[in-house]
Amino acid sequence: MADYWNIAPGMESALKECFTRDVEADVTLEFVIPEKDFNNAGKGSSEVKNLLKRLGVDSEVLRRIAVASYEAEINVAAHSIGGKMTSLIYDDRIHIKFEDKGPGIADIKQAMVPGFSTADDLVREFGFGAGLGLPNIEKNSDALHISSEAGHTTLVEFLLFFT
Ligand SMILES: Nc1ncnc2c1ncn2[C@@H]1O[C@H](COP(=O)(O)OP(=O)(O)OP(=O)(O)O)[C@@H](O)[C@H]1O
Ligand SMILES: [Mg+2]
Repeated sequence: MADYWNIAPGMESALKECFTRDVEADVTLEFVIPEKDFNNAGKGSSEVKNLLKRLGVDSEVLRRIAVASYEAEINVAAHSIGGKMTSLIYDDRIHIKFEDKGPGIADIKQAMVPGFSTADDLVREFGFGAGLGLPNIEKNSDALHISSEAGHTTLVEFLLFFT
């Protein structure tokens, strides 16, 4: 089991608790993400963005949420055999989880390096595969957790605070 965290120093225990205590969300949204369905991949992210916009979330925060969630949603479609996106919305933050089955990520540190990609020809035909999605998710989220059982499953989850 590979595990990767990006949490600001000093915030570990507070933020890890936000990842594990996901029962009391005010709103929960779930989307299925089928394998290689590039015509629909991205819809979950845009619906979440639209809802948060109606709820009055700041436009710069909204932009960061949209970038991070779009990249993670495309990754599930591009690299896994299918998965789901779960968005847990609280009054002060959003926690978005992407869970899939597939090859997993054996070396997460390597996958985080800008430019690293295992995208196949089909994925590249759709314009993906620059190896910039995971670094972008890290850049645009307040806390990131990736966990993978190589050959089986991947979990990518992140938090963004509204203020
Ligand atoms: N959900 C996933 N399941 C399996 N492997 C993944 C998953 N997400 C990312 N990876 C692995 O991590 C690599 C880097 O991901 P990243 O999003 O940074 O780049 P990319 O998807 O290849 O290209 P880009 O995002 O720029 O279109 C991928 O090429 C793949 O090997
Ligand atoms: Mg990607």
